[in-house]
This record gives sequence, C-alpha cells and structure tokens, in this order.
Amino acid sequence: MCHLPVIFCFLFTGHVDDIFPYFLRHAREVFPHLGCMEDLKKISDLRLPANWYPEARAIERKIIFHAGPTNSGKTYHALQRFLMSKSGVYCGPLKLLAAEVFNKSNAEGTPCDLVTGEERRYAKSEETTSDHAACTVEMTSVNIPYEVAIIDEIQMIKDQQRGWAWTRALLGLCAQEIHLCGEASAIDLVRELMKVTGDTMEVRKYKRLTKLTYLDKPVESFDNVRDGDCFVCFSKNDIYYISRELEKRGKQVAVIYGGLPPGTKLAQAQKFNDPNDPCKIMVATDAIGMGLNLSIKRVIFYSLVKPTLNEKGEKEMDVLTPSQALQIAGRAGRYGTHFENGEVTTYRREDLLLLKDVTSRIIEPIEQAGLHPTADQIELFAYHLPHSTLSNLMDIFVTLSQLDNDYYFMCNVDDFKFLADMIEHVPLPLRVRYVFCCSPIPKKQPFVCTSFLKFARQFSQNEPLTLSWLCKQIGWPLQPPKNLSDLVHLESVFDVLDLYLWLSYRFPDMFPDVNQVRYMQQELDSIIQIGVYNITSLLKAIKSDCSTAVAISLSCQQGKKNNH
Ligand SMILES: *[C@@H]1O[C@H](CO)[C@@H](O)[C@H](O)[C@H]1NC(C)=O
Ligand SMILES: *[C@@H]1O[C@H](CO)[C@@H](O)[C@H](O)[C@H]1NC(C)=O
Repeated sequence: MCHLPVIFCFLFTGHVDDIFPYFLRHAREVFPHLGCMEDLKKISDLRLPANWYPEARAIERKIIFHAGPTNSGKTYHALQRFLMSKSGVYCGPLKLLAAEVFNKSNAEGTPCDLVTGEERRYAKSEETTSDHAACTVEMTSVNIPYEVAIIDEIQMIKDQQRGWAWTRALLGLCAQEIHLCGEASAIDLVRELMKVTGDTMEVRKYKRLTKLTYLDKPVESFDNVRDGDCFVCFSKNDIYYISRELEKRGKQVAVIYGGLPPGTKLAQAQKFNDPNDPCKIMVATDAIGMGLNLSIKRVIFYSLVKPTLNEKGEKEMDVLTPSQALQIAGRAGRYGTHFENGEVTTYRREDLLLLKDVTSRIIEPIEQAGLHPTADQIELFAYHLPHSTLSNLMDIFVTLSQLDNDYYFMCNVDDFKFLADMIEHVPLPLRVRYVFCCSPIPKKQPFVCTSFLKFARQFSQNEPLTLSWLCKQIGWPLQPPKNLSDLVHLESVFDVLDLYLWLSYRFPDMFPDVNQVRYMQQELDSIIQIGVYNITSLLKAIKSDCSTAVAISLSCQQGKKNNH
C-alpha cells in the first residue's frame, strides 16, 4: 500500500489533465517510494477488453448484424429467431422495450423472464428461471450460456454515458448466435472488434417497408395540423407551449417525454393510436424515437436543435445528428396501420432546408466503443490509495487508464462523480458507495438528489429503509396534480421509488419492502396518468401561479406576451 493521498485530494480540485503531471512530480519528491504507480497502471490497463470474458472467448460465436432504418422489420427478424431458439436473451436500451419482448415472448408460448435494474418478473417462478430472458442491456448476464442473443440498437455502443454496456454485451455474451440490430454505421467497428475475438460475422441489410416522404411545405401555423400529426421538440417548455396552442384550437393532444413513467407513456400512446379516440395529435420529445408503437402519419420537427452533452460532459445546443433526425423522422408511417406512408416536415420554414440537409448527409461510421471502470478495478485502486475519495479514485483511474484508442473510448463518468461527491461524507463501505453511485437517477431533480442522500444516510446507520420510513420521506399518499409543478414533483417521486427498487436488488436486507413499493409506484403511475391526461388544464392552472417552478417560466412569459 502506498501513502500518497492527502495531497492527492487537495490537488484534484482543478482539471485532472492539467494537474496530474504536476502532482506526479511533487508526489515523487514527497514520497520517493511511489512504487504503486506501476500497480495502478496495471489495474487501469483497459487495452484488451475482449480478454475480460473467458467464457465468451472459449466458444465460437456467430454474429449476425441486422442493419436498417426504423420500420424496416430488422428487430422482427431477430426476434423470430429468439422465439424459436432453445434459449435466448434479448438486450434492449429501455425497460419499455424489454417489457414488450417479455410480453410478446410469453404471449407466443415461449416462457421468458424480465430482468431490468428495478424489476424481475418470472414466467415460471423465481426458483425455476426460464430459458429466455428479456433485459435492459446493463443487466445482461455474461455468464449464462444461450443459444441466441439479441443486442438491440447496437449503434448506442458509442453513447457517451451508456456505451460501455453495449461493449460489454457484444464482447461478453456467451451465446452461439448473436443478433445485432441497428444502424449500419456500427458495422465497420463491430467487424474490427470481432476480428480480435475471432467470431464470424454476417451482415443483413433491410430497407424501410413503407414509403417516407419529405414534404416541401412547412406547417407554419397550428391551424394547419391534421389527424396523425406528431410534433417533435426537445424541451418541456416547447411541449407545454404547443399543447396549449393546440388546445386553444379545440384539439386534444397526447403528450410523451422522457421523464414520464412507462405506464403513462404507454397510456398516451394507446390513446393516440386508438382510431376511436378523439385525441389524434401527439406532442413529444425524441423519447418517441425508440420503443413505442405509434400510428403517426406526419412527423413535424418543431425544432432541430437539441441540448446534448459533449465528451467533457458540458451541455451544448446542437443541431440533430443525421442519425437522430432519421430515427425520429422514421417514426412517421407504420406498417399495417391506416398511416402506412409517412410524411416528414418542419414547423418553421427556415428549418425545412436544414432538415433536408441533415437527413441527406451520410451517417458517419462509428469509430469507438465505450468502456468504463468496474467495481473491482476501483476497489483495487482504493486499496492502493486508501485516503482518496471515490470521486478522486475515478479521476485518477480515468487519467491513468490505457485504452486502445483506435477502437475504444472512456465513457463519461461525471454522473458517477456527481453522486459520489454528494455522499462523500456519509460513512459507507466502498462497495456500497460504488453501487449507490451507479444508480441510474436523473441528476437534475433536486428532490431525487435529496432523497438519494437520505437513502445513503439511513443506510449508513444500518437502518433498513422500510415502507413507513419511505412514506414519510415522500409524503405518501399523494394527490393528483393540480398544476404543472405538482406534476413535475410527482415525476420526481416516481424516480425516487425507482431508486428504491433499483437498490433493493443490490441490498435486499436494507430495502425490505420491495413489493409494497412496487405497488405504490404503480399507483403513482396511475396518478400521473390522470395528470397528463388533463395536461392542458394543468397548463391553464399555471397562469395564476407563475412563481412555482423554473420549468414553466417560459410558458408564463408566453402568457404575458399574449396579454399585451
Ligand atoms: C405488457 O402486458 C401488460 C399486461 O397485458 C400490459 O399492461 C403492459 O402495458 C404491456 N407492456 C408493454 C411494454 O407492452
Ligand atoms: C404495434 O401496432 C400495430 C398496429 O397498430 C400492431 O399490429 C402491433 O401488434 C403493435 N405491436 C406491439 C408490440 O404492440
């Protein structure tokens, strides 16, 4: 064990890259036996990730890449193979998609279990797991042998936050046949990676099943909307604004955005899809790009600018990438519905050319797959650097780590560090701390963050987080929302219950009341559904309540403008 550290913590307040060489020089002066650097480098050597999965390397795998756009039936073909196989696993990017495969597989007589971060459902029983499983990609087992595996949306291997999970599945799945579904832009990279693993690869290309037309006319006015229209925008304020404008014109709208619970999203989708429901217009964010079955005739881009995180984790406003734009546009038209042939346009005239330009660009081939440190690696680091905070350990790891940059990049660890900093002073064993910091919570919501901290404190006092304790924290039972800020709060509470469920699978003794909490969460989903169903009346309620939440400030300004 070496003894660097106090300075380490002190030094790591600036940007690591700037400070590290300085640190090394000084650390060597102060601690001449800085022998552990070699150990640290060895631990953080990520150059041969294919070797981390000996079970997968021991078998010969056949990779079948189903490449094609949205609505080309590529996943359908992979799923047929999955359903027919003796054993199989589906790995998807979203809980909704995993749940859909779970439903479909069981409905077609292939018993299948569901495995997500927050939920396990068994076709047979907990003791007798099925031979098939549908899971979110992070939850995929790389130890269970399967005949067939599917990795959906394989292009997400380049995702700055979650890419590592696709890399792990691709390199580590222990299956004779692995079906990858997604954009052709990932083909070259996968081929290179599979040269190293020695697996064979076949590519099948698909074309869209139905016509998709880019219109020459923008929509320009909310008076020009038609049944089957879907507005796509990238901020909640735009969602609120568009919904109100349509409501003023006597239109009912369905609303979908990322923060809504899955049940609410499904209910909104069903309302919109139901030919007998008067609600025929959808207002959504790019949350509709994946996982929901929608009968959209025309996609209308209300905006083409989306906030994104760059490699440094900074927020930027960027024009959609060709891949994002195509994925969203592709949601127009649905095979087998009365809206088979889709149309795409923009709201504003000045966006129309930009849309054509973006969607006609060639999608850049993906060059690198994501990686991230494991709990074991961080634990070894902590052993060598016992006085460092978890956040610092992560920084040091990232700085020292060696990657094969031709094919891999280090995923962004800022979310992890954010949570680590928040609970730094809560006394927890390192493993527990690491797991807490991996929990997938939305970091921007203060209520979720406060609850996260309270969970950690309660845990550190060795007090089980019981149902009654939780109810006190979240103020259960909850009422249907009366205005928009109520709704935003209920969404946060939903995420807190998700956090509880997620942690309950990692620490069952400390989070004992899983079933009741799951039941509560379903009830809350219903309460939120009622709120979103009446979203236009919630929107009106804010007029008299302009001070409530930051999220609605723009809507209020809009209100003021209209009064002038
Ligand atoms: C799965 O089936 C259940 C029960 O029929 C339904 O409530 C749920 O919405 C379905 N989920 C998805 C994602 O299709
Ligand atoms: C999607 O919608 C189509 C048409 O409405 C329907 O035939 C199909 O079963 C749906 N798929 C799922 C998974 O809900």
